[in-house]
Amino acid sequence: MTINIAVAGKGGTGKTSVTSLVIRYILKNNLGTVLAVDADPNSNLAESLGLEVRQTIGRILNNFQGEKLTIPAGMTKEAYLEYQLNGAITESKSIDLITMGRGEGPECYCYPNTVIRKLVDEWSKNYAFVVIDNEAGMEHLSRRTTQNIDEMLLVSDHSIKGLRALERIKDLIKELKLVITRESIIINNVPGEVDPRMKEEMGRLGITPAAIIPADEEISQYDLEQKPLFQLPDTSKAVTAVNELMNRLLSKTGVLK
Ligand SMILES: Nc1ncnc2c1ncn2[C@@H]1O[C@H](COP(=O)(O)OP(=O)(O)OP(=O)(O)O)[C@@H](O)[C@H]1O
Ligand SMILES: [Mg+2]
Repeated sequence: MTINIAVAGKGGTGKTSVTSLVIRYILKNNLGTVLAVDADPNSNLAESLGLEVRQTIGRILNNFQGEKLTIPAGMTKEAYLEYQLNGAITESKSIDLITMGRGEGPECYCYPNTVIRKLVDEWSKNYAFVVIDNEAGMEHLSRRTTQNIDEMLLVSDHSIKGLRALERIKDLIKELKLVITRESIIINNVPGEVDPRMKEEMGRLGITPAAIIPADEEISQYDLEQKPLFQLPDTSKAVTAVNELMNRLLSKTGVLK
């Protein structure tokens, strides 16, 4: 059974960093293959993972909507799109990546969306884990119909606004009727102790964080040096916090022996 993990939160709170560290955890512990999905139009998950993106779903769809589309003889439109979309998977040893990218045309890609939905569901089955880095709006999640989310990681930074944004995301989850087994709130990039005013707001909102990730100077350093977070050492504070969270979450699923 594939375990579906989705990461969401307000812009800039650390979704991509958390996604990369979750994937790092899965691979370092040899828990199985990973399909990473970068569903943020300002995609940068690939960089964090040290992978190179050749093609995005958005670009393929744009071309597909284009007037000059020439479908090879003997191929149906659907088969041709499937073929093209298959080319959008960046493959590496134990991790494959799909980058959604940005669509330039009108928002409604109704026909291609149906194909994508079917394909991503099909692809997902081949992996032990699917890990999705979301845009705050989570539109792409709403396009995932048949697959439920096992672990929803909601990321806030160390700010009142970040916490309040979680409430809006929770409402959105309800609106989109996403089926989620478990939600875990992560407070990321915490300088030292959690501020008492943050604790107060969490109390008011009824939030109990599943993990606190400290502000980690190694993450800042990697960002400046443009090094993939994937390569952070085990001693990194953020890595330790994410590993500890994942141990806790996955031990309940029976994935960890
Ligand atoms: N725990 C941390 N310690 C130090 N810096 C961090 C930490 N987490 C994230 N950052 C930094 O904060 C910035 C935003 O992080 P990240 O890109 O992961 O957020 P995001 O939610 O994916 O942003 P976006 O909404 O733009 O996609 C990055 O420069 C990252 O290096
Ligand atoms: Mg991001």
